Amino acid sequence: MSALQGRIAVVTGASRGIGAATASLLAREGARVVRMSRTLAPKHGKETLDLRCDVTDASQVRVAADLVRSEWGTPDILVNNAGAFHLAPFEETSTAEFDAQLAANLRGPWLVAKAFVPMMRAGKGGLVVTVGSVADHNGFPGNAAYAAAKYGVRGLHETLVAEHRGTGVRFTLVSPGPTDTAAWDAVDPDSREGFTPRAKMLRPEDVASAIVFAATRPSHVQLDWLRLGPA
Ligand SMILES: NC(=O)c1ccc[n+]([C@@H]2O[C@H](COP(=O)([O-])OP(=O)(O)OC[C@H]3O[C@@H](n4cnc5c(N)ncnc54)[C@H](OP(=O)(O)O)[C@@H]3O)[C@@H](O)[C@H]2O)c1
Repeated sequence: MSALQGRIAVVTGASRGIGAATASLLAREGARVVRMSRTLAPKHGKETLDLRCDVTDASQVRVAADLVRSEWGTPDILVNNAGAFHLAPFEETSTAEFDAQLAANLRGPWLVAKAFVPMMRAGKGGLVVTVGSVADHNGFPGNAAYAAAKYGVRGLHETLVAEHRGTGVRFTLVSPGPTDTAAWDAVDPDSREGFTPRAKMLRPEDVASAIVFAATRPSHVQLDWLRLGPA
């Protein structure tokens, strides 16, 4: 039997990149996977549940969480992955861009956790994986807004671990280094000094396998933090 047979997983930001790879790998391990993003074509079925949802919008997240619960039940695995990357020096980052980075990378995971964690706690079990970044524990030039959000999401994760110890709900932060996804298209790292070339980056599947590793630990194991990057 596959490791996650019969489990229900929710993956945000599952239309491409790390989220899409994670949804595929979870499904390959036997989970039924709810995929959420702003652009997925909605599909409702016994084996497919694709939801269009902007995770920065509290009412959309609430509607999506209610729909997951009523159609498939309380998730066993929640992957809080949706996010966006804005790279610019501090002095060239507007406050509107800062707000947008906080919305995508901190408010979104907050709202998603608010919508799903109480039902998981009521069900006395489950795993929440938050996708952080190497920027959740390092400062890099050009990363002020993104790092502010990702350090914040690490703080949220650590608090959730502390508040839920003994409840059956577990939390893992997965912090990848540079990973070759469309998030890098606008940056064009291959043409810029000091950036990891795309060919040397992690692949989305590498991050997905770290997430599935967390999801396949026995329920008595609290795995706090996985950090991975290019060798
Ligand atoms: N790539 C890297 O080097 C790297 C490294 C460390 C951490 N990460 C983190 O990994 C996560 C995934 O990044 P990625 O590289 O896979 O990026 P990506 O290829 O750009 O994918 C981002 C995903 O998030 C979704 N998304 C963005 N904003 C959203 C919103 N407001 N509501 C719902 N969905 C939203 C996008 O879907 P729609 O456009 O369809 O909404 C897409 O599915 C992010 O949290 C990112 O910070 C990435």
